[in-house]
Amino acid sequence: MQQARYDTDIVRGFVNWSIVWGLVAVLVGVIVSFQMVNPSLNFPPYFTFGRLRPIHTNAGIYGWGVGVIFATFLYMVQRLCRTRLWSPKLARFQLWFFNATIIASAVTLLLGYTTSKEYHEMEWPIDIMVVILWVTFGVNVIMTIIKRREERMYISLWYMLASIIGVAILYVVNGAEVPVSLFKSYSAYAGTNDANVEWWFGHNAVAMALTAPPLAMFYYFLPKSTRVPIYSHRLSIISFWSLIFMYLWTGAHHLLWTPVPDWIQTLAMAFSLMLIAPSWGSVFNGYLSMNGQWHQMRDNYLVKFLIVGITFYGLQTLQGPMQAIRTFSAFIHYTDWVPAHIHMGTMGWVSMIAFASIYYLVPRVYGRELYSIPLANLQFWLILVGQLMWSISLWIAGVLQAGMWTAMNPDGSLTYTFMETMVEMYPYWWIRAAGGLVYLAGVIVFIYNLVMTVRKGEDVAVATVAAEGRA
Ligand code: HEM
Ligand code: HEM
Repeated sequence: MQQARYDTDIVRGFVNWSIVWGLVAVLVGVIVSFQMVNPSLNFPPYFTFGRLRPIHTNAGIYGWGVGVIFATFLYMVQRLCRTRLWSPKLARFQLWFFNATIIASAVTLLLGYTTSKEYHEMEWPIDIMVVILWVTFGVNVIMTIIKRREERMYISLWYMLASIIGVAILYVVNGAEVPVSLFKSYSAYAGTNDANVEWWFGHNAVAMALTAPPLAMFYYFLPKSTRVPIYSHRLSIISFWSLIFMYLWTGAHHLLWTPVPDWIQTLAMAFSLMLIAPSWGSVFNGYLSMNGQWHQMRDNYLVKFLIVGITFYGLQTLQGPMQAIRTFSAFIHYTDWVPAHIHMGTMGWVSMIAFASIYYLVPRVYGRELYSIPLANLQFWLILVGQLMWSISLWIAGVLQAGMWTAMNPDGSLTYTFMETMVEMYPYWWIRAAGGLVYLAGVIVFIYNLVMTVRKGEDVAVATVAAEGRA
C-alpha cells in the first residue's frame, strides 16, 4: 500500500491550504476588478485598490502557486525517488510556517507596509521568514533526492531542483536591503541597477515559480493520467537545460525604452526570442505524447486540463517574446494588454495544471474516488470561459488604449486626453469583472467537488485508484 510507504498527511495539508489561499486570491481578484469599474467600492484606508492589489498578486503567486508547488513536489519526490521524505517533521513545520508567512504578508500589506518592489513587496522581517520557509522545503526535497532508491532522475526532478535553487538565489539577491526600522528598509541597489535587479528577479520568478514547477507537474501527471510515457525523455532534458540557460538573460525586457543600457535591453530581447525554442520543446513533447491518445481529451478530464494548460503555455511563450521586441513593446507597454498576457499564464497555464494536479492527488491522499466527474468537467468550462473573457477583453482594450494614446492630430498634438482613453476602457473592464465571476464560480465548483469527495466519496484502496480521470 502506497499509504504505508509514503508520507501522505503532509500532502493533504498543503493541498487544503493551497486551495484556501487560491480562493482568497481569486476572491480579491474579483473585488479589485469591480473596484476598477466602480471606484466607490474602495474603502480607505485598508480596502482600497492600492492595498488589495498586492494582496491579490501575492496570494495568487505565493499562496496558491507556491502552496501547490509544496503539495505536488512533496508528493512527486517520494514517488520519483521511491523513498519516504527525508524528514516528515520538517515538512510539518514547513506547513505551519507557510501559513504563518502568508498571514503575516497579508496583514502587513493591508496595513500599508511595502518595499514597493513588485512581487517582492513584503518588508524585511517577512523576507527572513520566506528564506527560512524555502530552505526548510529545499533541504527536505534535496535530501530526499540524495537518499533516493531510483537511480534515474526523471525530468520532473530536474525542474523541481531548478525551481528550488533558482527561487532561493533570486529572492536573496533581490531582497538585499538596509533595514531602518522594524517595517521599513531601503534597497541595497540604487537607480537603474535597482530596476535591473528587480526585473532580473521578476521575470526569473516567472521562470522558477510559474514555469519550471508547472512543467515538473505536467511531465509527471500527464503520463500518469494517460498511462502512456512521455514522447521523448531526451527532448525534455534538452528543453530543460536550454530553458534554464536562456531565462536568466531576459529580465530587462521589462525595461525596454528606459535608461537601462541599450546593450542589456538588446540582449534581453534576443534571449526572449530564443526562449520560444525550449518552451515549445515541452509543448511539442506534450502534444506528441498524445499520439494515438487524443480521444482522452474527450473522456479523461485530467487530460483536458493538462493539454489545454500546456496549450496556454505555448501561446504565452509566443506572445511573451513578441512583447519583448522593442517596436511591439513601444505599442503595448503600460497598456491593459500586459495584464491580459499575465492572466493567460496564471489563470490558464499555471492554474489549469494546478487544478489537474490536485484532482489527481486528492483521491490518492484521501483514499476516495472523486465525487463527481461531471462537476470536474463543468469546472473546466467555467474556468476556460472565465479566463478567455478576462484575457480577450483586455487584449482588445490594450490595443485600443495604445491606439488612442499614440493618435495625433495633423499639428502634432494628441488626439485624445488621458481621461477620454480611460472612459473607453469601461466596457472591457466590465467584461473582465464578469469573467472573474465566472472563474470564481469554477473555483467554487472545484472546492465543492473536493469537499464532497472527502466527505462522501467512495472508499478506495489508494494503490488501486484505477479510474484515473476517465468519465
Ligand atoms: C517565452 C516566455 C515569455 C516571455 C519572453 C515573456 C515576456 C514578457 C514581457 C516582454 C513582459 C513585459 C510586458 C510589458 O510590461 O511591456 C512580460 C510580462 C509578464 N509576464 Fe511574460 N513572458 C513569457 C512567459 C510568461 C509566462 C509563462 C508567465 C506565467 C504566468 C508570464 C508572466 C508574466 C508576468 C507576471 C508579467 C508581468 C510583470 C509585471 O508586473 O509587469 N510570462 N512577459
Ligand atoms: C478570477 C480570477 C482573477 C481575477 C478576477 C483577477 C483580477 C486581477 C486584477 C483586476 C488585477 C489588476 C490589473 C491592473 O492593475 O490593471 C490583477 C493583477 C494581477 N493578477 Fe489577477 N486575477 C485573477 C486571478 C489571478 C491568479 C489565479 C493569479 C496568480 C496565480 C493572478 C495574478 C495576478 C498578477 C501577477 C497581477 C499583476 C498584473 C500586472 O502587474 O500587470 N491573478 N488581477
